[in-house]
Amino acid sequence: MRKQIAAANWKMNLTYQAGEKLLDDILSADIHLASHQQVIFGVPFPYLIMANSEVSEEAYYAVSAQNCSDKKAGAYTGEVSVEMLQSINIQYCIIGHSERREYFNESNQTLAEKVNRCLEAGITPIFCCGEPLSIREAGTQNDFVAQQLKESLFHLPADQLKSVVIAYEPIWAIGTGKTATTEQAQEMHAYLRSVFAKQYSPVVANEVSILYGGSVKANNAKEIFGCPDVDGGLVGGASIIAADFIKIIQSLK
Ligand code: PGA
Repeated sequence: MRKQIAAANWKMNLTYQAGEKLLDDILSADIHLASHQQVIFGVPFPYLIMANSEVSEEAYYAVSAQNCSDKKAGAYTGEVSVEMLQSINIQYCIIGHSERREYFNESNQTLAEKVNRCLEAGITPIFCCGEPLSIREAGTQNDFVAQQLKESLFHLPADQLKSVVIAYEPIWAIGTGKTATTEQAQEMHAYLRSVFAKQYSPVVANEVSILYGGSVKANNAKEIFGCPDVDGGLVGGASIIAADFIKIIQSLK
């Protein structure tokens, strides 16, 4: 079975102390995970070491950065390299979140470089894709998202592609409380899988975990994760409330 993942994206929220408490509350809850299930905490840079030490005893929990530099090292003030993440044993990095694309002008080409840096360092990219409302209203979302994959991922050989986690996040559903319907989510996830099948092979496509993101909440996670091609979620707002994220974890297939 493909890996089923509940990934938290804290974004630029919580103090160190509040983050530590949130992790304590979640990790002390009565949650039973199977070996194909994984929980990932995408925390701000200053909390990575603390979060990694919190989850170190937990087999199915891991920590993710929310971004990294596309450069290897050097005079890039304020940036964080994958080598730095690797040196503190971080296993995942969110790449190409729509907020980074929009507010920091990250292009598909820059994101291809970030994906390369992660894979060179043995860090799994959680690669985000998704269309804005105008594209959804024009009905061209499939082509739009396929182009994002093509320009940022399709240079990878199959064995590397298989290790990338995809997060489909329709931008109009992020932080808006407006979730894609299960039909819309399943349709896009199945389409993305068909794009991978065509570019690589059906076997490869069947192995890639594709998460849904965009207003996943405690009360809709089960239904969304129940879609055959949805392998869990990338969760923003609801991931910083312990009780809600616990319910979301428990909604994994
Ligand atoms: P949201 O954010 O769950 O608050 O909509 C999802 C995301 O941006 O990853």
